[in-house]
Amino acid sequence: MRTVRSVRELREMLAPERTKGRSIGLVPTMGAFHDGHLSLIRRARSECEVVVVSLFVNPRQFGPAEDLGSYPRDDARDLALAEAEGVDVLFAPPVDEVYPEGFDTTVTVGGLTSVLDGDPARRGPGHFAGVTTVVTKLFNMAAPDVAYFGQKDAQQALAVKKLVHDLDIPVRIQVCPIVRDPDGLALSSRNAYLDSEERRRALGLSRALQAAEETVASGTRDADAVIAAAQAELDKAGIVPEYLELRSASDLSEVDRVDGPTLLAVAARVGKARLIDNAVLRDNETSKEPNDMSSRPGANAPPAKRAAVTLSTLAEKRTLGEPIVMVTAYDYPSARVAESAEVDVALVGDSGAMTVLGYPSTVPVTLDELLTLAAAVRRGLSTPLLVGDMPFGSYEASNEEAIHNAQRFVKEAGCDAVKLERGGTSVERARAIIAAGIPVMGHVGLTPQTATTLGGYRSQGRTAERALSVAHDAMALQAAGCFAIVFEAIPSALTEAIMSRMRVPVVGIGAGPATDGQVLVFHDILGIHDGHAARFVKRYAGVRDEMIKGVAAFADDVRARRYPAPEHGYTMAPDEIERLHELLEEQTGEPFTGGFSL
Ligand code: KIV
Repeated sequence: MRTVRSVRELREMLAPERTKGRSIGLVPTMGAFHDGHLSLIRRARSECEVVVVSLFVNPRQFGPAEDLGSYPRDDARDLALAEAEGVDVLFAPPVDEVYPEGFDTTVTVGGLTSVLDGDPARRGPGHFAGVTTVVTKLFNMAAPDVAYFGQKDAQQALAVKKLVHDLDIPVRIQVCPIVRDPDGLALSSRNAYLDSEERRRALGLSRALQAAEETVASGTRDADAVIAAAQAELDKAGIVPEYLELRSASDLSEVDRVDGPTLLAVAARVGKARLIDNAVLRDNETSKEPNDMSSRPGANAPPAKRAAVTLSTLAEKRTLGEPIVMVTAYDYPSARVAESAEVDVALVGDSGAMTVLGYPSTVPVTLDELLTLAAAVRRGLSTPLLVGDMPFGSYEASNEEAIHNAQRFVKEAGCDAVKLERGGTSVERARAIIAAGIPVMGHVGLTPQTATTLGGYRSQGRTAERALSVAHDAMALQAAGCFAIVFEAIPSALTEAIMSRMRVPVVGIGAGPATDGQVLVFHDILGIHDGHAARFVKRYAGVRDEMIKGVAAFADDVRARRYPAPEHGYTMAPDEIERLHELLEEQTGEPFTGGFSL
């Protein structure tokens, strides 16, 4: 690990890495490392080739009455921990390197920085201006591909995401989950200020969040009731919050109900420490509401216990850095499994051509065949978003045909959206279908429908020129209005390079860990079919072996006359059997000689 103090040294270190095309991850910190920081560093280490950690206690985000002077610092310990985590560069500039004489520029994000901590009566918008100014500077200094922030500072993470979006800064913001001590206390450098009695009281914060979660889980969605449940826990701990508020998890706008992801944020002073904590609450009773998305047209599936996944849920998940889970489904049973496993998206993939219809590739499957599969999936699905895969030949010829066939997926099979493959002419088709009111998911990289043109079922974008063409396809589909894009079988480095330019959720299959979510084929996950599996497939069960075992055991039982046993048969009263014998004798004129078991 190299420790550098100046921007020049940092740039000199990173320039050759960038030229080699290596991905750079930045973890901005104010030091006093705890496991929360280390979780961000580990995430960066697992996703990026070069990891930079900045260690800078930023004076501009502290108010005059705040703890800048006493903020915990232990540079030697931080250095050792960073080294042990495999950090490549520790950037620890002095204050005048970041804010030289005459520095007079401030970057402010409007709106969401003026509530909660940004309320002038609390830390005020100046706090966030300090954060977004230093973060902008760090982005310009290190030019990372990905930057890592913790959900613990949820408002800060949202402000940074907005900053990057509004100023077109080419960096992907990865928000990582809150790390807690086993008793629930969220890790914070300021926990160091707590004595043991205060630490015990501070648990009231996480208990308040938990009480709110339980209240929502029990079906209550009214904001006042949820807040009251949380407040009761704070009262028990003798904590008077600076704020305890429910707000939209995507833009911090006010809410009066928990409908969709909702942030419950709390700040309170416990002893000398000002602590913050939060939880993203989700309504899981949505399916009982009359206008709930889970009662989508055509959905006959049993009522679900969680909220239906919508396009905004997926966008919010991306914003919050929560991975999106997508699986394929092709019939009622696989849909019920996807439902019970609480996946986010179910795709009636044209891979069904091979997995359930036995074709040698996806090319021969017809629209009618996929519609039959999609309608069966719809009957088993309540909450995951249902996407129908437009098969080869159903959208290429013209916008009119593409719109007509996409409408069939929605009207006849009850799909929420459709997916189509490739850039090129598919971009125009996607735009036309979206303009006709149907959401479209794009698909780039290995696009199996045109595998022959791509040189077979092989990974794509492995030279810089071909990688660029995959990137162009993805960006063109995004610009056309696709709500999400699948990246299939492309190098992880290519995914990382594209992700900072993506504004819509990206779901990967064989595209590395940097995407917003992952998709696998149902039969691959469960090991239902035999034969070759792609490199990216991870098998989570051996269902085919179990199925063969089960059917072979049935065959053995039948052949050995062990099945059916008496308990598998139906009985008749003895006098009814006797009468039946008499009737048979009467009608056939022959004595009854057969046997009936009683
Ligand atoms: O058809 C399919 O299964 C797919 C997924 C692999 C994304 O397109």
